[in-house]
Amino acid sequence: MKVLVTGGNGQVGFELRRQLATLGEVLAPDRATLDLSNADAVDAFLAQYQPDLVVNAAAYTAVDNAENDQAGAMRL
Ligand SMILES: NC(=O)c1ccc[n+]([C@@H]2O[C@H](COP(=O)([O-])OP(=O)(O)OC[C@H]3O[C@@H](n4cnc5c(N)ncnc54)[C@H](OP(=O)(O)O)[C@@H]3O)[C@@H](O)[C@H]2O)c1
Repeated sequence: MKVLVTGGNGQVGFELRRQLATLGEVLAPDRATLDLSNADAVDAFLAQYQPDLVVNAAAYTAVDNAENDQAGAMRL
């Protein structure tokens, strides 16, 4: 099984990467490789790698910034 873990370098995602490795191959692209606020990039990544399972641990956790970057927060 191929598993895509987003936010894999974050607190939750890092642990999920370890746990989900028991299921098979884990893909955990960093933000530079896959910016989740870019819908076209997400579509292209899914088409290329075709994961069986997607676990989303990415989030806009800089809550103070979200006040000033509402569009970016909503995109993510
Ligand atoms: N930590 C907890 O105890 C806990 C408990 C319950 C629920 N949660 C929930 O779990 C989620 C993750 O929390 P966390 O504590 O793991 O947060 P975190 O450590 O801040 O991790 C967030 C992850 O999201 C990534 N990310 C942010 N914007 C992105 C973008 N545009 N494209 C790709 N990746 C992006 C970050 O990448 P960068 O490293 O590049 O910034 C980081 O890897 C949140 O929804 C949180 O509410 C957390």
